[in-house]
Amino acid sequence: MAYLLGIDVGTGGTKTVLFEDTGVVIQSAGAEYPLYQPQNGWAEQQPEDWWNAVVTTIQQVISVSGIDSDEIKGIGLSGQMHGLIMLDEHGRVLRPSIIWCDQRTAKECEEITARVGAERLIEITGNPALTGFTASKILWVRNNDPETYSKCRHILLPKDYIRYKLTGDFATEVSDASGMQLLDLKTRSWSGEILEKLEIPSEWLGRVYESPEITGVITGEIARRTGLAAGTPVVGGAGDNAAAAVGTGVVTEGKAFTTIGTSGVVYAHIDRMIVDPKGRVHTFCCAVPGGWHLMGVTQAAGLSLKWFRDNFCKEEMDLARQQNIDPYIIMTEEAERMPLGADNLYYLPYLMGERTPHLDPDCRGAFVGLSAFHTRSHLIRAVMEGVGYSLKDCQQILVEMGADVDDMTVTGGGGRSSLWRQMLADLYECPVKTIVSQEGPALGAAILAAVGAGLYPSVQEACNVIIKRDQIQMPIKENSDRYLKNHPVFRQLYHQLRPGHPIGFSQ
Ligand code: XUL
Repeated sequence: MAYLLGIDVGTGGTKTVLFEDTGVVIQSAGAEYPLYQPQNGWAEQQPEDWWNAVVTTIQQVISVSGIDSDEIKGIGLSGQMHGLIMLDEHGRVLRPSIIWCDQRTAKECEEITARVGAERLIEITGNPALTGFTASKILWVRNNDPETYSKCRHILLPKDYIRYKLTGDFATEVSDASGMQLLDLKTRSWSGEILEKLEIPSEWLGRVYESPEITGVITGEIARRTGLAAGTPVVGGAGDNAAAAVGTGVVTEGKAFTTIGTSGVVYAHIDRMIVDPKGRVHTFCCAVPGGWHLMGVTQAAGLSLKWFRDNFCKEEMDLARQQNIDPYIIMTEEAERMPLGADNLYYLPYLMGERTPHLDPDCRGAFVGLSAFHTRSHLIRAVMEGVGYSLKDCQQILVEMGADVDDMTVTGGGGRSSLWRQMLADLYECPVKTIVSQEGPALGAAILAAVGAGLYPSVQEACNVIIKRDQIQMPIKENSDRYLKNHPVFRQLYHQLRPGHPIGFSQ
């Protein structure tokens, strides 16, 4: 039997899944770790936490499954994108990682635009300077922590730090590298021009591969520590969204998916490189060699509901503990009992600023329209609808750009809620599908490993065999009409609450 290992280094935790080469799950293990917010708008994690989670979960899946690790033909890595890991000359971590949702780098984004030129930056990297991306984080460390910067010799992304620990190689692959804002998206290699203009040494960056290519093998020391076999190949893998695309079979033009994880993403595969000149959605290389994707991002999607749960839903959490079920089940049942529109209550999900469509790191969340009549259940529904409106913002721009998004799959933790999926079907006015596997990015990473190991000739052919469609939910016309009447109100609220407006939000 041939097995594959998919490792997804997420924001909430790491998930390691052992699959058969047909995509059947043999064993899965997860480990959580904290997110540190030392200041409002900052977000950091400890690379050692990721590494410990990866080691523990690999040990668990191998020991519990009882398989012979020689039969694992390949390992694929996926992970949260954009995080900055700086290593010294001995490969030691120099500081906590500044991760994707950190918003401290507005000044550095201005610096990048001034150094490169706004148009040229979009032309090469497919995106305007964004606080979430890695380049501005590198400049922030140079401007604010010069001592650390002077010791830096290697820069890696989260999953590529794990690759370094597993194989000793400094490497990345095109999909995740696109989110550093240092890659030339057309040539799929580091941009000499950007590196020179930003004065970032090219030797600090790893070698860039295509996602299914083998980048290295498991070392003897790691084999002893984890139970893996020395010499097992590790492929490039992909950033979590590009990996989720493979794991949901979105690998040809005309297919799209929405994921509701910590962040929310609306993603469409494209065969030719197109960019939004206004920079509201990202263009990145995707995990299919020679392909790209468009992607709109809601910064705080699942994060919004988690924030609400943690701060206001103690009762639901206690009840869930007694019944041994997930508190989100109870919360969404409450939301389902509330009317569409939550009796005129709106929620703006800008807890971590926003990317699509506002590109505004400083905006903040809001409930608008609260009355004494509203209950906690209304608020839960409003949070889910607010995230839905924000995902609609993303989908609308992809449509404007000519992307075909009618073949829409919904995935991620939030995608398990049929209420949330129905909201999306109604807001997008198209059917939304789910697939049988819940493993998303980990399955995508394993499929890339299967292609790298030669078990399938291409990513598309592997997906044709492995990905199985599940349910389909149709839009309900009456709901669509009402949501689409409310959506412009939601859009307007952002502009009315901007800083400078009499009741404007700010940090
Ligand atoms: C994508 C993005 C997030 C992270 C975290 O640009 O920042 O989706 O990858 O999951």
